[in-house]
Amino acid sequence: MKKIGIIGSGTMGAGIAQIAATAGCTVRIFDTNEAALQKAEASLKKIMDRLVEKGKIDSEEKERIQNNIQYVNSLKKLKDSDMTIEAIVENLDVKMNVFSTLEKFVSDDCILASNTSSLSIASIASSLQKPERCIGIHFFNPAPLMKLVEVIPAIQTSEETLNISVQTIKDWGKTVAVAKDTPGFIVNRVARPFYGEALRIYEEGIASFPEIDSAMKEIGGFRMGPFELMDFIGNDVNYTVTESVFEAFYYDPRYKPSFTQKRFSEAGYLGRKSGKGYYNYSEDGKMSVRKDLRTDSKEKVSDKIIFERILVMLINEAADALFWNIASAEDIDNAMTKGVNYPKGLLAWADEKGIDWCVSKMDALYEMYHEDRYRCSPLLRKMKRENRKFFN
Ligand code: NAI
Repeated sequence: MKKIGIIGSGTMGAGIAQIAATAGCTVRIFDTNEAALQKAEASLKKIMDRLVEKGKIDSEEKERIQNNIQYVNSLKKLKDSDMTIEAIVENLDVKMNVFSTLEKFVSDDCILASNTSSLSIASIASSLQKPERCIGIHFFNPAPLMKLVEVIPAIQTSEETLNISVQTIKDWGKTVAVAKDTPGFIVNRVARPFYGEALRIYEEGIASFPEIDSAMKEIGGFRMGPFELMDFIGNDVNYTVTESVFEAFYYDPRYKPSFTQKRFSEAGYLGRKSGKGYYNYSEDGKMSVRKDLRTDSKEKVSDKIIFERILVMLINEAADALFWNIASAEDIDNAMTKGVNYPKGLLAWADEKGIDWCVSKMDALYEMYHEDRYRCSPLLRKMKRENRKFFN
């Protein structure tokens, strides 16, 4: 893969262009918005200058990377591409329109990939005359820094398209996890309880935001607590992902969004970007605990109880993703450590805690609430019966 076309020069498109250009590909990046193209070019220059300052690359390398990228104002200019990656607005009609237009210009064997986070690859592929050339290639933000890329073949995707895509992404120095074309793929599905269960614990009035965050960091070794992370992502963005996963799973209660997050989003308490979220943020980015929120707890629980409840819900979700064949055990664990920096893979964590422990924790939660949300994955039960571990 030498010639890469990128559609959309926003946060993700610009990052993907940088990765491909650094790996030695020639990149053409197109955007309908001239200002977005200029912004992408200026921001790449800034990043390159910083890398030179830090001694990570020399000025020759910087020139080489920058010269590998052309900023173009017409989709037609992507016609020589071996592979195109689309990173435009998350709207199916707009994406389908771009894919079917693009197919008219490019060669027959050009791969047409989408960086979508939440749309089905099958639906995007259905806009093409040759849908077997379509695939999902899902990067994480910030793309140049995050090691993981999920590669998602649709039912229409050919084996050849899958193999070439996986090899290309590996050649770019990334770790690939192949995922089934299902809502949230791996990471955005398996990570849901990190937010959802934390919000629920808060809503039950048994712990405050800083208490929950501290339990996950101190005991679990997570780099950020759930509330810090939601503030970082943006409560509007995180809420929308949860809502779309919930809908896409036909309203499975496991993915039910939270009123707390909805209200924070409606109030404009979006997190870091608005200076206010579950915490306050000063101009220079310093985080402080909010004194103005009513966060009294009715009945405190220990950090260990909080941590174990969130952890076992994450493990259950990871085991269920394996049960439903979303990806291999290795890819599920890699996805969480390399896509969202979890301190350990969740299935390896299950082995460490013991499958018995996982099943009895889930059953205790179910016993307490009698809600389908807390149903134990059939795979965990089966493994307990067979006295098996995920990894040997
Ligand atoms: P963004 O809003 O930063 O950039 C989108 C760019 O696409 C804008 O510059 C816009 O002018 C351009 N655009 C819109 N319609 C276009 C069209 N018809 N033709 C050409 N350019 C067009 O968006 P962002 O965050 O880069 O996301 C892009 C895609 O990547 C979305 O599908 C999103 O779901 C996905 N994604 C986003 C992640 C994130 O954390 N921001 C992470 C992983 C995937």
